[in-house]
Amino acid sequence: MSMASSSPRVHVRAPGKINVYLGVGGRHDDGYHALATVFQAVSLYEDVIARHADDFSLVVRGVEDPDTVPLDDRNLAMRAAKLLAAAAGYEGGVALEIRKSVPVAGGMGGGSADAAAALVACDALWGTGFSQARLHELAARLGADVPFALHGGTAVGTGRGDQLNPALARGRFDWVLVTSEEGLSTPVVYGRLDALRDEEGALADDPPLSLDVPVAVLQALRSGDPEALAECLFNDLEAAALDVRPDLEQTILDGIRAGALRGIVSGSGPTIALLCADPEGAQHVQAALREAGVDALHVHGPVPGARIMG
Ligand code: C5P
Repeated sequence: MSMASSSPRVHVRAPGKINVYLGVGGRHDDGYHALATVFQAVSLYEDVIARHADDFSLVVRGVEDPDTVPLDDRNLAMRAAKLLAAAAGYEGGVALEIRKSVPVAGGMGGGSADAAAALVACDALWGTGFSQARLHELAARLGADVPFALHGGTAVGTGRGDQLNPALARGRFDWVLVTSEEGLSTPVVYGRLDALRDEEGALADDPPLSLDVPVAVLQALRSGDPEALAECLFNDLEAAALDVRPDLEQTILDGIRAGALRGIVSGSGPTIALLCADPEGAQHVQAALREAGVDALHVHGPVPGARIMG
């Protein structure tokens, strides 16, 4: 193993994501579902700062309710640091600081971004020198969305969502995110989808016979055309998330009334992602929603994955 870095701290920034397409197949014996998804990394970031320490510790800033983020081994960033130390045979520890901007349990992969950022930060701090492929492999062991937070940009995810292939995307897409005060548990939403599918007739044609990302989605991304992308936004988890949180349907309608092209539940929710025609359109939608007292954020994608900040 190479020498630990002499710099006292490493700062890594990793993005949250939106699934512009999320097809969910059957449930495997390990509890995970087969996915065909397209991720887009957006300009809402988690910042992780790693400092040399003998032991492992974690502080989290930027969350309203500290009880929603565990500081022990249940935290994905902490697990990431320990997994990397074990894989590298590193005997020291790290003091991690997370500055959160991505909503907790919001369906935007905030915890996965923390884990990806912690892997990159500790790799640099400790001078581990792992290849991108090795970091990807460790990331996949931490969670299905962690490899994408490393990768960033736009990518097709298959398997559990962890097998990535980059997708070509031109230009930028403007989104307005409507966050919720209370998060949704990802396993609960997947469980609700299974229950709806078991209830005969509750959902049409589910689970799908073939799990493929439609060509139209990839074409829309390649052409950088938000109108075309709006037409093919899709999320199999949406029905389940709306079943748990019926009020989100109104949020989508409000966003469209404010001028968005379309709205979808982001991942397992409850964040609503409203696709807009351009930056000005998104500013308008954000302002209209804020005027109505809604917590709305204007972001854009695609943006890069976890990277070290100067
Ligand atoms: O891998 P991650 O920790 O993000 O997954 C959280 C939960 O989401 C899993 O425990 C599982 O219940 C559900 N999940 C799933 N199929 C996937 C990804 C996640 O059922 N492909």
